[in-house]
Amino acid sequence: MSTLLLLPGDGIGPEVIEQVRRVASRLANDLTLEERAFGGTSFDQFGTPLTEEAEAVALASDAVLMGAVGGPKWAGAPRAQRPEAGLLRLRQAMNVYANLRPAICFDALAGASALKPEFVSGLDIMIVRELTGGVYFGQPRGIETLADGQKRGVDTQVYTTSEIERVSRVAFELARGRRNKVTSCEKSNVMETGLLWREVVTALHARDYADVQLEHMLADNAAMQLVKNPLQFDVIVTDNLFGDILSDEAAMLTGGIGLLPSAALGDPGKPGLYEPIHGSAPDIAGQGLANPLAAILSFEMALRWSLGRTDLADKLNAAVKAALEEGARTRDIGGSLTTAQMGDAVLKGL
Ligand code: NAI
Ligand code: MG
Repeated sequence: MSTLLLLPGDGIGPEVIEQVRRVASRLANDLTLEERAFGGTSFDQFGTPLTEEAEAVALASDAVLMGAVGGPKWAGAPRAQRPEAGLLRLRQAMNVYANLRPAICFDALAGASALKPEFVSGLDIMIVRELTGGVYFGQPRGIETLADGQKRGVDTQVYTTSEIERVSRVAFELARGRRNKVTSCEKSNVMETGLLWREVVTALHARDYADVQLEHMLADNAAMQLVKNPLQFDVIVTDNLFGDILSDEAAMLTGGIGLLPSAALGDPGKPGLYEPIHGSAPDIAGQGLANPLAAILSFEMALRWSLGRTDLADKLNAAVKAALEEGARTRDIGGSLTTAQMGDAVLKGL
């Protein structure tokens, strides 16, 4: 019996998580579903975006599936009470340092990509982004006022050997189950952390993963190559900042934000955190227009990487493909189905 904690969150979060709930109850009868308030919804109820109780339940679960957090209602709250702060705290508490962002182009949607179909047909890239270190967390940081009255903003990029090694290990392990190639991206030409990154990845590769093809690529070149010839990539591993940008770029090769899942993994055996890459979409919240596939595919990743149910993950993936092939489309991908009707289409495939 495994436990999945659902954190629907704000905006369209509860709408898309509701469809996951329907799919999960049809698919897995040995899965216990828990649910807690999160983000702005939790702030309204408990005065904090993440209660200690919800955090404890997350750490005790086998996997956590989040909808989305944030929205204009809470934008003026103090930084520590904002919905996004709850998400950062949860990631830190769960120590999920490897963010898996697949960029997969479903054949039925190759026409929806920003690129011509022949560039993206069959596209299947896995970006592994370091998630708990780097410039988003490095100290010192802040905005200070200088003696001459100007202001100066400071951010610090910091990485240790072990931080680089553990996320690279995730990338090499994933590559072995795929097309056996890892592209490591940094800026070793201009950054010290980039030099260290390349050194650590090279050493780990020689020691434990010599059977995997390893390629080093400067991050700015990777940004170009993703648009020029995306089919060359299998697994990409990179730091927090470059991964943020490259994974959003890769997302646009696939036909839309409403389709893309993600996973954040920590050490083996610890719970993973799964979430669609989209936000709370306040512009369409409450209207039944949200595409639930990104959330449903995030659940698929949870089945695969945390719940030990590859069989069910494959079944769910096939049901999503079948729904798309039969023409099921929400508005964001050119159709008129509601959120619940897209859920129906997936259930039909199960
Ligand atoms: P967003 O991802 O919420 O929306 C961007 C655009 O994509 C909007 O036009 C929206 O309608 C559309 N969209 C997003 N998901 C969709 C879906 N499933 N189906 C159909 N259309 C979809 O990003 P935005 O507007 O920049 O941010 C809105 C709020 O969400 C902000 O408060 C932001 O901080 C928060 N946010 C939260 C994230 C998270 O929970 N991890 C990630 C990104 C943003
Ligand atoms: Mg981003």
